[in-house]
Amino acid sequence: MGTSERKPFIAANWKMFKTIGEAVAFTEALQKEVGILADREVVLAPAFTALAAVRKVMALEGFRLAAQNCHWEEKGAFTGEVSLGMLGDVGCDYVILGHSERRHIFGETDDDVARKVAAAFRHRVLPVLCVGEKLEERESGQTTAVVERQLEVAIRGLDPSEARELVIAYEPVWAIGTGRTATPEQAREVHGFIREHCGRLFDKDIANTVRIVYGGSVKPENVDALMAQPDIDGLLVGGASLEVASFRRIVQFVKL
Ligand code: PGA
Repeated sequence: MGTSERKPFIAANWKMFKTIGEAVAFTEALQKEVGILADREVVLAPAFTALAAVRKVMALEGFRLAAQNCHWEEKGAFTGEVSLGMLGDVGCDYVILGHSERRHIFGETDDDVARKVAAAFRHRVLPVLCVGEKLEERESGQTTAVVERQLEVAIRGLDPSEARELVIAYEPVWAIGTGRTATPEQAREVHGFIREHCGRLFDKDIANTVRIVYGGSVKPENVDALMAQPDIDGLLVGGASLEVASFRRIVQFVKL
């Protein structure tokens, strides 16, 4: 499969923002403005409370629903957690897993993320696996070692048929919510490494099929340069996904 067959994946991670009413109004307005999308996927990740309502108004081809987290168990006494069966039930296509805020604020480990990734495939809610180094790790030359470890623990147990459906988000922690975007070259370097590593863990064909998206201070001003990089197959957007106008411009990136 060539680069052109990896459909661009543009996701809005709304984190702990937007009430049900705000999430619905955004979804309706965005669909009205961008229309049917045949050549890219637009993924909206509202808070758990707004998933059902957003699903209900998501009407156009090309739009997909994602959750921001889940638990790996099917059911049980896990107060405050949401299972993948529940996410499938509400109509989620994807689930964001191992986001740096989950890892670094809530203490999720690589093993937790691996359990979630495996459970997500069992439920056919496809994982968007986030990996990325902290500033001190980059500055001490550990970027690829950190990304390799996070990736390996999370995906080494997957079947090849699952691995090819993966979406991997490279999100350098120092670029998230800081306004400090990785340069297109910095992103390309790590994306290239991730693809090569998928090739080592599985095979070249799978490595070429996996979508690798970039996240960390993506904005209308840098979207086209990022999407021009050969190994960047999409974007995971936080702050700039909260307003329709800026997210719309990101969705409508121009291939340079
Ligand atoms: P940001 O967040 O775009 O606000 O940097 C990205 C993310 O956390 O996924």
